[in-house]
Amino acid sequence: MTNWLEIDKYAKEWIKEAGARIIKSFSSELIIQTKSNKNDLVTQIDKGTEEFLINKINKVFPSHRILGEEGLSEELEDLKGIVWIIDPIDGTMNFVHMQRDFAISIGIYEDGVGKIGLIYDVVADELYHVRKGNGVFMNDIRLLPLKDTAVDEAIIGLNATWVTKNKRIDPTILEPLVKESRGTRSFGSACLELAYIAAGRMDAYLTLRLSPWDYAAGKIMVEELGGKVTTLRNEPLDLLTQQSFFASKPGLHDEILQKYLKEGNW
Ligand code: IPD
Ligand code: CA
Ligand code: CA
Ligand code: CA
Repeated sequence: MTNWLEIDKYAKEWIKEAGARIIKSFSSELIIQTKSNKNDLVTQIDKGTEEFLINKINKVFPSHRILGEEGLSEELEDLKGIVWIIDPIDGTMNFVHMQRDFAISIGIYEDGVGKIGLIYDVVADELYHVRKGNGVFMNDIRLLPLKDTAVDEAIIGLNATWVTKNKRIDPTILEPLVKESRGTRSFGSACLELAYIAAGRMDAYLTLRLSPWDYAAGKIMVEELGGKVTTLRNEPLDLLTQQSFFASKPGLHDEILQKYLKEGNW
């Protein structure tokens, strides 16, 4: 039988250690490279953090598999067995420009089912964690089940990209949601936006494109507290591909889908 308590204990220890290494790196020079475009950044610290976590996992849990953003692990074609889905630094742009508001995200799945989620806001020293069925915590504070909110009282996580000219959707589609909600925010770290929904600081988060490592941990947290996490078409997410993404408090999820997302062809 899988000892989830043991896995959880190691994962927490390693994510904290990885965070401490990142803080130490602030005093050394960053080597910044670009990936798919000039704003898609990666540094030696993103890669070093992923490598650090992979080495730890391989040593203690050699049968577990790993899916990481920077691609230092094997390529996965399925989610059989125990799979660690890792974003070594989520919010690399924040890391590079602001040295804050980035996080390490680890989601641990068994045969595609989320079991453990950890999101570590390194600079704030806030560790959000969930072990499926045992509640969600921010450090030692237990987070409460999500209470519903109507759109006109909701804060929605939404990047301005999607309401300006872009290659994926007609930017006017999301305009009514922006106007009718209480406000929108964009924090620059998808996993932190999900942790904020879990903590009740924000009510929903949506985007046209997200990768599994961005949401693997946060999805488990939001669902554990009664929220809904799907694509913008209300379909289940596939943890092996990039898709549209929509996480929200439960009733709000339905309201936004019905009133604001019907027109989109995503
Ligand atoms: C990015 C951040 C950002 C989101 C992007 C992600 P990265 O992750 O989560 O908030 O808008 O879609 O790619 O590259 O900083 O790990
Ligand atoms: Ca990236
Ligand atoms: Ca990311
Ligand atoms: Ca990243």
